[in-house]
Amino acid sequence: MCGITGIVTKNSENIGELLVKCSRKLTYRGYDSVGVAAVLNNEVHLRKDVGTIDDVDKRLKLSSMLGDRGIAQLRWATYGAPTKVNAQPHFGCKPVFYGAHNGNIHNYAEYRQELIDTGHIVRSENDGELCVHAVDKYYEETGDMFEAVRRSVSDLHGAFAFAVGRADEREIYSVKMGSSLVAGVGSNETIVSSDLPSILPVTKQVIYLKDGEMLRLTPSEVEVFRIEDGKKLNRPIETTDIDERAAEKGGYPHFMLKEIHEQPMVAQDVIGVLEGKECEDWLKLIEESSNKYLVACGSSHNAGIVGTYYFNKLAGIPLIPAIGGQFLPMYSNTLDEDSLCILVSQSGETKDIMNVLNLVEENNLGKTLGIVNVIGSTLMFNADSYVPMACGYEISVPATKTYFSQTIIFAYLAAKLGERNGNLDRDEAREIITHLSKDLPKYTQTAIDRTDILAKNLARTLVDVKDLYCLGYGFTDGVAREGALKIKEICYNHCEGMYSSEFKHGPLSIVTEDYPVIFVTTPEDSWMVINHINEVKARHGRIIVVGEREEKLEAYLASNIDYLEVPKAPLLLNPILDVIPLQLLSYYLSVDLGINPDLPRNLSKTLTVD
Ligand code: F6R
Repeated sequence: MCGITGIVTKNSENIGELLVKCSRKLTYRGYDSVGVAAVLNNEVHLRKDVGTIDDVDKRLKLSSMLGDRGIAQLRWATYGAPTKVNAQPHFGCKPVFYGAHNGNIHNYAEYRQELIDTGHIVRSENDGELCVHAVDKYYEETGDMFEAVRRSVSDLHGAFAFAVGRADEREIYSVKMGSSLVAGVGSNETIVSSDLPSILPVTKQVIYLKDGEMLRLTPSEVEVFRIEDGKKLNRPIETTDIDERAAEKGGYPHFMLKEIHEQPMVAQDVIGVLEGKECEDWLKLIEESSNKYLVACGSSHNAGIVGTYYFNKLAGIPLIPAIGGQFLPMYSNTLDEDSLCILVSQSGETKDIMNVLNLVEENNLGKTLGIVNVIGSTLMFNADSYVPMACGYEISVPATKTYFSQTIIFAYLAAKLGERNGNLDRDEAREIITHLSKDLPKYTQTAIDRTDILAKNLARTLVDVKDLYCLGYGFTDGVAREGALKIKEICYNHCEGMYSSEFKHGPLSIVTEDYPVIFVTTPEDSWMVINHINEVKARHGRIIVVGEREEKLEAYLASNIDYLEVPKAPLLLNPILDVIPLQLLSYYLSVDLGINPDLPRNLSKTLTVD
């Protein structure tokens, strides 16, 4: 949620252009409002408004702003409505201090009042403004910008990062206190940003930061300090090998479609990771723990449900799948020093997951295994060990290829564990692993090729539908929930994903003539799903089936049902492949409804708030 970018440059001609170019790469983090503060001749110029970066740039000519330093912010609204006054960056009491934040300040109400009571002019209802005032306040006391920034952090409670500057000082300062932050050193400028993609247009020389650290950026140098005592830290500059083009659409109309089409490559790359020597550590972590929890949110949680079935079937190992925000009230007292929390997060920054990570670490409650996509994220740095999803950048707000990668990781680890603990015999385990490592990329490609046109055609028939269900059974439980989440998220329809045998326990009453219900099934479970299909068919509901074409299903179904047919594949690949037609269906439906699936309203890709 929200993205900040700060740049200090030797060249005052193009600060606006650079900030817009770099910030555009953070669009997935927030698109409610945009602002740029640029400093020219020791005067701060601030332009900001509601809208996406391209809209606001067109209206306010952000790209033409001049200066040798500046801060830009893209906002996903939490504290304060998405209005111009709440847009960031903000000034302090006078237009001397300028700054912007990402995250949440939890003592917002009390601190805002305290500032007002002590004479601060607070203009907005946005918590980011308080960061600038906190620096302003301590500058009054110390007359020193470094100290002011360092001390300001003690007034601010929450998880956040901010960048701040002063009109008459050449440097920009930035702090990391629970939200992501990365810095870069280019040949003509230095940069700090909420995420790596916005650094790449400037440089590949990056510095990763940890919580409790602050930065001072000059045109040629980035210095890192510990906030607690102001001690300078020696942090190496690393060269990233990530290609800037990874964050571009590459000829596709949307990132979402590009990312769906990247899944055959993901299937190949993630297996490369799993076949590496670190896999032994991951397997041991799982084997040597007592209670094993799988904690994740949204799509990552849906993948975790699929994972739980794999662990049961292939390894005979119980995983307890928990929603990130539910974990503490539901399971915190059941943790002990032998427990394992498998924390699954694309961004590696989701606050609900960070809360679990912190609980385990601070109280020594067992181990954590991260499954994470964003390199340099908090989860990657702080988990005891982590499995990279190997997806490259996922820019589109709806998760597709990262969900896909997670399901492959679970299937692979479960098969390996099953082989080691004897739940599978050796040949059986080898066969499953060969299917995953050798055959899956080709099946994935075929599933995309086959279902693309079917999904596109089916989407056209659903444009007037406002309400539907997506049901799965056994292995396809998580897949159906994921399909429903995609439809809700990017089509603004109510689509509930649930277990198909539960449907008759209440929701079935919604079915009238032509009410659509999607059933996701595999040949292993279709004997049962047929019962559930018949219950809907008997009430004249509209049946849509996702899965392999099978005789036993066809025998029971009228010929005019909609079939999103995935290619015939080894049984255990089915749950991985079945999501593809659902991703495509939601994509085409979203486009048909005139929605930009990459930037669904009200959402943000990285949710660093509670
Ligand atoms: C849905 C989606 C979200 C995320 C959720 C968790 O398409 O993207 O539901 O899956 O916000 O995010 P991560 O995996 O970054 O923790």
